[in-house]
Amino acid sequence: MKPVVQHISQISPDQSVVCIVEKNEIPAFLKLTTAEKEYALRKLREEEETVFINSYFKCTYLIKLKKSIEHYRKREEIRKAAAALKKLIRSNNHDELVISSGTSDKEAVLDFAEGLLLSVYSFDKYRTVDDEEEKYHYPSRLLLHGVTGKEGIQWLTDLTDAVWLVRDLINEPVNHLNALALAEAVASTGKKAGFRTEVLTKGKIEALKMGGLLAVNRGSVDPPVFCILEWKPGKPVNSSPLVLIGKGVVYDSGGLNIKTGDYMAQMKGDMAGAAAVTGVFHTVAKSKLPLHIIGLIPATDNRPGGNAYTQGDIITMYNKMTVEVGNTDAEGRLILADAISYAAKYRPMLIIDIATLTGSAAMTFGNQAIAMMGNADRKFVNLLEECGREVYERVSELPFWEEYGDMIKSKIADVRNVGGREAGAITAGKFLEKFSEYPLIHLDIAGTGILKKDDHYRLREGPGSGVRLLSEFVRRLSKEYNKLK
Ligand code: BES
Ligand code: ZN
Ligand code: ZN
Repeated sequence: MKPVVQHISQISPDQSVVCIVEKNEIPAFLKLTTAEKEYALRKLREEEETVFINSYFKCTYLIKLKKSIEHYRKREEIRKAAAALKKLIRSNNHDELVISSGTSDKEAVLDFAEGLLLSVYSFDKYRTVDDEEEKYHYPSRLLLHGVTGKEGIQWLTDLTDAVWLVRDLINEPVNHLNALALAEAVASTGKKAGFRTEVLTKGKIEALKMGGLLAVNRGSVDPPVFCILEWKPGKPVNSSPLVLIGKGVVYDSGGLNIKTGDYMAQMKGDMAGAAAVTGVFHTVAKSKLPLHIIGLIPATDNRPGGNAYTQGDIITMYNKMTVEVGNTDAEGRLILADAISYAAKYRPMLIIDIATLTGSAAMTFGNQAIAMMGNADRKFVNLLEECGREVYERVSELPFWEEYGDMIKSKIADVRNVGGREAGAITAGKFLEKFSEYPLIHLDIAGTGILKKDDHYRLREGPGSGVRLLSEFVRRLSKEYNKLK
């Protein structure tokens, strides 16, 4: 169960408390005894990063921040400190835990809560046997001390709910979550959070001639879907919408160019982009942000099969362009391309797509950065970079020079879906650009969206990459739209 987050104005002497400090000082509101204070101060002077005091009926956890680092790095340090403390906190079986700050920065409390909420997630819906560890539990209530205004806590709750939801979707294997089931999950999220959804099923996708999505789906026994999400507030600040597109490959076997070795192992997560878009809509709708946004999610699995599309096929896409299939494992760009050209009907101000698209992006940045590229105005790129630092889902820009576009030329069709081994993340982006009539930013989360091991509070079990980044981006855009325009 996810802990609930509440505001608290007074800490009572018997409550267990986490407190973030910057100096070697013990805030009076912790109500420690003289001996406890002396012990804590000694530890802080010894440069301990965390100090744990186990009193008779309560626990106190002190977290000492490093001085003189940029504010956004401090925020991340606090989230990571929460992840580092989660085992100790769990072993103490608190029902509730107060989070407080002895620094002037009250946001620190929200950051710690965020780090903890993201750390304590687990995917155990299919586990039927209890193990030893079940004796211990995380606190079911986090009580934030000194946070003024409801807005911060509400945003934190909605945002972390979204990350939990996204992780659940990523963790579901394809035998439980095929494309149709993903569409149902999107629709039920829409109902709960208050955004509109429409699901185009196979007949409609055929009628629209979405050749990319249909080609990838041909080896599958399950039909494809194309989900349309819409959040249109009463008085949006924008007249043309922002369109978010997520890759929804519910399983990527590679198709006839089947993945070898261990490369197929985590490919149930190849819909992390689609899940992220769903999560962003959840947060934006819950918070009723005044920005009009459309979401597009093309979804299918990619499998070999009697009727599977093949290397060498030439397919006609939704926008009538033809594509030579150089590799059936470069399927993400085919389904995204249809969605990107479909987006033209909304005359968007900007299109952002998010996808676990290339091993190349993962090889370049590891799990530390989302690969970003595109042809949109710098003001959007700058804002994304800024949001990336604040939520610590950093984006790093790759060159997008037109020469890279030459690498995907085809002799027998308008374009090829692969461009050779070099610059793989960029040529994938260039492929997408060919289908976009409107400004495009492409986010490749192959490195950050699927992890091999936990990275602090970014859990191996579906980190939820991009949800906090894009939610923050929409929040900032809805605030600063007129200034940015
Ligand atoms: N879903 C994969 C990319 C991927 C790899 C995501 C590792 C997460 C972790 C994508 O569909 C793919 O297979 N890409 C190929 C493209 C190649 C055939 C041009 C790749 O990157 O190897
Ligand atoms: Zn693939
Ligand atoms: Zn894929």
